[in-house]
Amino acid sequence: MNKNRQETIEHAKQYVYSILHNDSSGHDYYHVLRVYEMALVLSKEQDVDLFVISMAALLHDLDDYKISDVGSKRVEQYLNNQNISEKDIIIDIIDNMSFHSHKEGRIVNTLEGQIVQDADRLDALGAIGIARVFAYSGVKNRPIYNNDLDDDSSIAHFYQKLLLLPDLMNTTEAKIIAKERVAFMELYLNTFFAEWKV
Ligand code: NI
Repeated sequence: MNKNRQETIEHAKQYVYSILHNDSSGHDYYHVLRVYEMALVLSKEQDVDLFVISMAALLHDLDDYKISDVGSKRVEQYLNNQNISEKDIIIDIIDNMSFHSHKEGRIVNTLEGQIVQDADRLDALGAIGIARVFAYSGVKNRPIYNNDLDDDSSIAHFYQKLLLLPDLMNTTEAKIIAKERVAFMELYLNTFFAEWKV
C-alpha cells in the first residue's frame, strides 16, 4: 500500500479514537483496533484490497445503532471529506455486516466485507467477548441473568447470539478461531451455572 493510503488509515484511526475513546459499551477504540488487526490477519494470503478492509474495519461502528443516533452518517461524511474513491464499497460493507443486518437477511458479498464481518464477530467471542457482553448490558441496564434463556439478560445473549457465531463465520480461519473462543465461553458458562446453583 502506498504512503498516501497508509496516512489515510492513520488519520482514520485518530478520527475513530476521537469519537470512541470514552465508550463503555464494548464498542470502544480498542474494539475497533482489534477488529482492524484481526481483519489484516484474516487477509493474509488472500487476494483482497487491504485499503478497503482497513477503512471498513476502522469505521464499522461509527453509525451503529448501538452507539449512535438513528440516521447518523458519520462514515459517509468522513469518507466524503477525505475524498476516498472506494467510498461506496466501504459503506456497503459496513451497512450489511452487523448481526442486526444478518437477521434482516442482508448479506455481505465481497471477500473484503466477509473478512471484516468475521473479525468483528470474533471480537464478540472468547474472554474479550465475555467482557463486552457484560459491559454492553450494563450500559443498557440489562440484568446478568434471570433464570431464563429467552429474555434480554447477558447470559441469555450467549445463547441467542454468541454461541451461534462460529457457524456464521465466512472464512475457514475465522471459523477455527471462533470454535476455540466458544469452547472457552462454554467453560465459563458451566462455571457460572455451577456457582449460580450454590
Ligand atoms: Ni464492532
